[in-house]
Amino acid sequence: MSAPVPFLDLPQQHRPLLNELNQVIGGLIAEGKFIGGAPVAEFEKAFAKFVGSAHAVGVANGTDALMLALRVLGVSRGDVVIVPAHTFIATAEAVSMVGATPRFVDIDPITYTLDPKALAAVDKTGVKAVMPVHLYGQPADMAPILATAKQHGWHVVEDCAQSHGATYQGKVTGSFGVLAGFSFYPGKNLGAFGDGGAVTGSDDARIDHLRRVADHGRQTKQLHGEPGVNSRLDAIQAAALTIKLKHLAAWNKERAVAAGWYEARLKDVKGVVTPKVGALRSHIYHIYALQVPERDRFLEHAAAQGVGCGVHYAVPLHLQPAYKALGHKQGDFKVAEQVTARCVSLPMFPGITEAQVDQVVKVVKEHVKAGS
Ligand SMILES: Cc1ncc(COP(=O)(O)O)c(C=O)c1O
Repeated sequence: MSAPVPFLDLPQQHRPLLNELNQVIGGLIAEGKFIGGAPVAEFEKAFAKFVGSAHAVGVANGTDALMLALRVLGVSRGDVVIVPAHTFIATAEAVSMVGATPRFVDIDPITYTLDPKALAAVDKTGVKAVMPVHLYGQPADMAPILATAKQHGWHVVEDCAQSHGATYQGKVTGSFGVLAGFSFYPGKNLGAFGDGGAVTGSDDARIDHLRRVADHGRQTKQLHGEPGVNSRLDAIQAAALTIKLKHLAAWNKERAVAAGWYEARLKDVKGVVTPKVGALRSHIYHIYALQVPERDRFLEHAAAQGVGCGVHYAVPLHLQPAYKALGHKQGDFKVAEQVTARCVSLPMFPGITEAQVDQVVKVVKEHVKAGS
């Protein structure tokens, strides 16, 4: 049997950077400086520039980034925030964390991102904000989403946890909404060596406020203007992210090349649906999600053949026990239900070889053949 193909290969990705990382992180340990300071400021500046926003604020993780964005926009108990039914649960959790209620809408069947037509038709009662998710690394269709939000006076907070560097009409995601939340969870296209996140935005007052809330509501060292939270990006994580950010564009390109290899080999396989990229968008393939028949049987076959796969995500948010109180049932968001029942995430990482892709494709074809 060939060598296993991992779902993700972080050690391989970090190997060429090890000397630089060890030197910088070793320097911080020697200095004893771990919270805030120059490494965080330097990363925030570089990341804001990469995104095309005036500011970036490092925070503890992507969930907090979204929660803090909603909090400084004044979203609170009694308010409603629109969230796609198919995303990681953190998008909705951020809404719950500020005491507001998520209202789910279905996704577009081609791009799997928030369906602008469903958004235009949604019950508008109590809505304060909408959170499009650039799922799997593909930007949501921002033009109609921004137009609907503007018409109704809603804030737009982008969930960019999976979209570092993906573009829509030539602009990088994270520069469309009033605020945007990023995750630097290790497996993301830009990942830290632990948890991390950032908020981007160009509104000076809101960014200043967010910075204070994320640091215990501090006005000065000793004065706290409001009860805040402790949600800061560590200096060690920031220093590592600054080093990795320089490689992000090249890594995203390598992922796109690998997606091209998958597409060429799988597009005509009966019963399989490959990812499609919407008009005027670039996809950074954080996740390469395929729809396959009998997904769970495929997962067993892939595991037996040494191919590491994932599922993002098996249960849509409206059917999650955590949101049972919202009273949804099977059939409420049909596209999300169909995609979650059939999606499987294939190995995808910078440096994946054409031979590894061939090995994965062979396993997909064997599965389809066995079922026909
Ligand atoms: C779409 C989406 N939103 C939010 C998050 C939350 O990010 P974190 O895990 O850094 O809190 C994630 C990360 O897994 C995500 O994939």
